[in-house]
Amino acid sequence: MATKLFILSLATLPSAQAWGVLGHATVAYIAQNYVSPATATWAQGVLGDTSTSYLASIASWADTYRATTAGKFSAPFHFIDAEDSPPTSCNVDYARDCGSTGCSISAIANYTQRVGDGRLSAANTAEALKFLVHFLGDITQPLHDEAYEVGGNDISVTFQGYTDNLHADWDTYMPEVKAGTSSLANAQIWANALIAEIDSGTYKSQAASWIAGDTVDDVVTTATKWASDANAYVCTVVMPDGAAALQTADLYPTYYDSAIPTIEMQIAKGGYRLANWLDMIYTASVAKRSLPIRETLESRRDGYDFLPAPRPMSPAKLAREAAGYDCGHKH
Ligand SMILES: *[C@@H]1O[C@H](CO)[C@@H](O)[C@H](O)[C@H]1NC(C)=O
Ligand SMILES: [Zn+2]
Repeated sequence: MATKLFILSLATLPSAQAWGVLGHATVAYIAQNYVSPATATWAQGVLGDTSTSYLASIASWADTYRATTAGKFSAPFHFIDAEDSPPTSCNVDYARDCGSTGCSISAIANYTQRVGDGRLSAANTAEALKFLVHFLGDITQPLHDEAYEVGGNDISVTFQGYTDNLHADWDTYMPEVKAGTSSLANAQIWANALIAEIDSGTYKSQAASWIAGDTVDDVVTTATKWASDANAYVCTVVMPDGAAALQTADLYPTYYDSAIPTIEMQIAKGGYRLANWLDMIYTASVAKRSLPIRETLESRRDGYDFLPAPRPMSPAKLAREAAGYDCGHKH
């Protein structure tokens, strides 16, 4: 019975998209630890939540929203389909890869602009913050920065005897083996462990480099750097010997052992960057509101001028569209 229940619960997992609920909540708890008190107060006000999980509670909202009719437009914002050639060549090119319906990078630019704008409704401001908390998590998941086989959604693999796709293993299965099922309590425990690694452990010497050069004055460049950083792991860790090599045996434990250090580091990075990002938005925009509002181009408030110039649809973009953004291919 226990085994049956376990399998049943696994069967429902693929509906958790992106880093799963666990990964996103962990990113959010890490960010909560590092934001300044002023940023925390501002974010709690925007979200109308002064609880100890104000960011963690909304970290997966964007995955629920994308599945609704009203939120369908946001489905492409969860990833960027880098049209590179893993495992021999990994790279992200914003103009080549973002696509005319937008991607994670243009979305981060748009919602960074919007959350700090000060003239949007409370609901639109909260929406922008909820999107940012989610997308700064998604962008550190290597397969959210990869077009190959629809971000690994079309690579069928077996993990602990259960056959699903490689993307789902990275989003959810492997994180849950490490940290348990997707409760906020488990996310907080995992976050605390990663915070300790940042403050005084494995990541202590690198954490500064995770945010070096990040600037809200050039979001596209900054977010492209984040995407490139994660995308590089597609060649070195996700499929160093190509996709077929992952289909010859169960991915647990050998592949899991090779991947989990990168998964943990990427979750830690996402949280550490998110805190710094929210602090920078607060300092650059929110804290200046007592001064006259900085004039922003009306068009920029919709974010469309962040998008790259339109290009003809590539085979990868056509494949993504054919797969549907939200049915079967959870990305
Ligand atoms: C910016 O955000 C608004 C509100 O969600 C959305 O309507 C618009 O399409 C977004 N623009 C881009 C370029 O993503
Ligand atoms: Zn997502």
